[in-house]
Amino acid sequence: MKTLHLVFMGPPGAGKGTQAALFHERYGPPHVSTGDMFRVAVRDGTDVGRRATEYMQRGDLVPDEIVDEIVRIRLAQPDTARGVILDGYPRTLPQADYLDALLAERDRGLDAVVSFEIHEEVLLRRLTGRRVCPTCGAIYHLGNNPPKTPGRCDLDGTALVQRKDDAPDTVLHRLQVFRQWTAPLVNHYRKRGLFLAVDAERPVEAVHEQILQFVRSRAASP
Ligand code: AP5
Repeated sequence: MKTLHLVFMGPPGAGKGTQAALFHERYGPPHVSTGDMFRVAVRDGTDVGRRATEYMQRGDLVPDEIVDEIVRIRLAQPDTARGVILDGYPRTLPQADYLDALLAERDRGLDAVVSFEIHEEVLLRRLTGRRVCPTCGAIYHLGNNPPKTPGRCDLDGTALVQRKDDAPDTVLHRLQVFRQWTAPLVNHYRKRGLFLAVDAERPVEAVHEQILQFVRSRAASP
């Protein structure tokens, strides 16, 4: 496969960011997380950040036109020419249509869509224990994947933080938003034959291996 375009979709806390970072580290395609891009924009006080912040704080989706625009700009960067791992985009049917058009304009197409399947009680445990590095975005979990020095990022030593939208009420709302807007994408992509459902409750390496096997099987198909 000359290029590799992957979409990782699933509810909050399912492990999309963890797997996308691992895939990037081992195989190279850039990890493009719309959530990370918005968090940087909010931190830096950009126009996009100001427009996105109230939606993110509530756990609502940022309007499609804002999200589509940041993805369009990101996918025009030269490092995405050979592929990309899209984490958390698309999340609505109009975003999925926009992505198809964007890739088609560049003679590209999706190779695989990975849906992370997981029970809600597991998600809640993952999100309450999650800590992130505000500098580099590295993801930890107090129980499953703690940093080597408590409270500090292994990569750059920054003090780890809890995401504001990981507060319990906001998490419950994000799950509801996922069920309403993003879950319908499962059928949309399943029909296209490039869909993999992974059991996201398994250990990180087991989930990674299943994704890798699927991507390799797609690469081998005519
Ligand atoms: P975003 O940042 O994308 O949040 P999300 O989709 O809700 O996903 P999360 O980042 O919460 O979870 P994850 O699946 O990446 O899990 P992780 O790997 O961290 O979006 C934030 C907000 O931005 C949205 O609410 C919205 O407002 C806006 N937004 C973003 N994209 C948008 C779009 N397309 N349209 C509109 N609005 C958009 O793992 C979670 C924890 O579990 C970690 O602690 C990790 O260490 C642990 N863990 C991971 N895998 C495993 C495993 N296999 N076993 C045990 N523990 C594990």
